[in-house]
Amino acid sequence: MGYIRLGVNVDHVATLREARKSVVPDPVHAAFIAELAGADGITVHLRMDRRHIKERDLRLLKETVKTRLNLEMAATDEMLKIALDVKPHQVTLVPERPGEVTTEGGLDVASNADLLTEVVQKLKDAGIEVSIFVDPDTAQVKAAKQVGAEAIEIHTGIYAASSDKDAELERIFDAARTAKNLGLRVHAGHDLNYKNIIPVLKTPGLEEVNIGHAIIAKAVYVGLERAVREMREIIDAHS
Ligand code: PXP
Repeated sequence: MGYIRLGVNVDHVATLREARKSVVPDPVHAAFIAELAGADGITVHLRMDRRHIKERDLRLLKETVKTRLNLEMAATDEMLKIALDVKPHQVTLVPERPGEVTTEGGLDVASNADLLTEVVQKLKDAGIEVSIFVDPDTAQVKAAKQVGAEAIEIHTGIYAASSDKDAELERIFDAARTAKNLGLRVHAGHDLNYKNIIPVLKTPGLEEVNIGHAIIAKAVYVGLERAVREMREIIDAHS
């Protein structure tokens, strides 16, 4: 299998900062340490309510990240304007519902095809790689291809929460095979941790995983450098 990139999502460093409306901890500093520890990319979700990551973080990360900056965002006019201005390496389009604790599922690409086709084209015209976060559902994968995406991020949250992990894993593998056949790159993420990631690493053609909560939670105990390094070691050992 090929090399699988580890994208470290630093949103929850900002969550801790915002718990005190303080200036620390700073997700920009965290990104620097994550890269030193072996992260292949830094991911942030600029939410419409700015509950953790702020535009200031995104702009500084664009200047300082040495690997790849992946911006998760909703396909709104406001976010599109920011993305076209900041120009991260990659945008991952996600659904966003006000008040949700975290992203609740993949984007319904098929039902929003016209809007997404326009947004994807504008991002691609600006030289930004475009990935779309989808459930492991072949119809959504095909729709992602139709709207012009270059990659999909397969939502692993349903697998992570399921008691029938084998069945959910098969859905992920099927979605990945469909994506590869269509020429889409395959990413995965959401609710992955140091244990449940291991079978996911066998996903056909997997090129990137994006992980936030599990790494930042572990970092509270052992430090961010070790938390990232141990995830990188697991990926290397099982891919
Ligand atoms: N991928 C996407 C598209 C997400 O929305 C999130 C959460 O922001 C993640 C990955 C990371 O999820 P977690 O924090 O559960 O690792």
